[in-house]
Amino acid sequence: MHEIEILDRRFSVYLTEEEIQGRITALAEKINDDLKGRDVLFFGILNGAFLFAADLFRQTTLNAQISFIKLASYDGTTSSGKIKELIGWNEDITGKTVVVLEDIVDTGSTLERIIGELTLRKAVEVRICTLLFKPEAYLKDIPIDYIGFEIPNSFVVGYGLDYDGYGRNLNAIYKLIK
Ligand code: IMP
Repeated sequence: MHEIEILDRRFSVYLTEEEIQGRITALAEKINDDLKGRDVLFFGILNGAFLFAADLFRQTTLNAQISFIKLASYDGTTSSGKIKELIGWNEDITGKTVVVLEDIVDTGSTLERIIGELTLRKAVEVRICTLLFKPEAYLKDIPIDYIGFEIPNSFVVGYGLDYDGYGRNLNAIYKLIK
């Protein structure tokens, strides 16, 4: 299935299931090597990272825990309008090495918000792992430790990523046909 339709848009296959799973195995091996012997807590960022987090986590051999957090937007009363609130956060991260698992880093503002929170809560060390990274869109200077694929600045769906809520259940990743 090289082309698919979701709502009003067409997408063509960009990364196959085999490519994605192969890369996740390589990322897990690197993380297993780098973080051996540490007390590790993985944080999956919902909704998009749920499949990536599950597939990566089951390939870790570390003494590790996993939890999930979500950044929810709601209309606030500030001048900027939107406020992003972190929900689902009830872990004690003191003394832990935290690995943030993201589906995609685009501008980096989600990442910046999460890193700010982790710093306040005194993690020993924070590492960032993202399946996809759009270097041309990235506006921050937070270093990203583990990157699955660098991709061009176009819209993608599948393997957890959505278009208007749909497409998350696709096993491959598809790129928008302009
Ligand atoms: P950032 O805060 O700009 O880095 O954006 C991160 C969030 O935007 C991701 O966690 C996704 O939910 C969403 N996002 C960014 N690019 C895409 C895309 O190409 N497809 C689907 N969602 C995306």
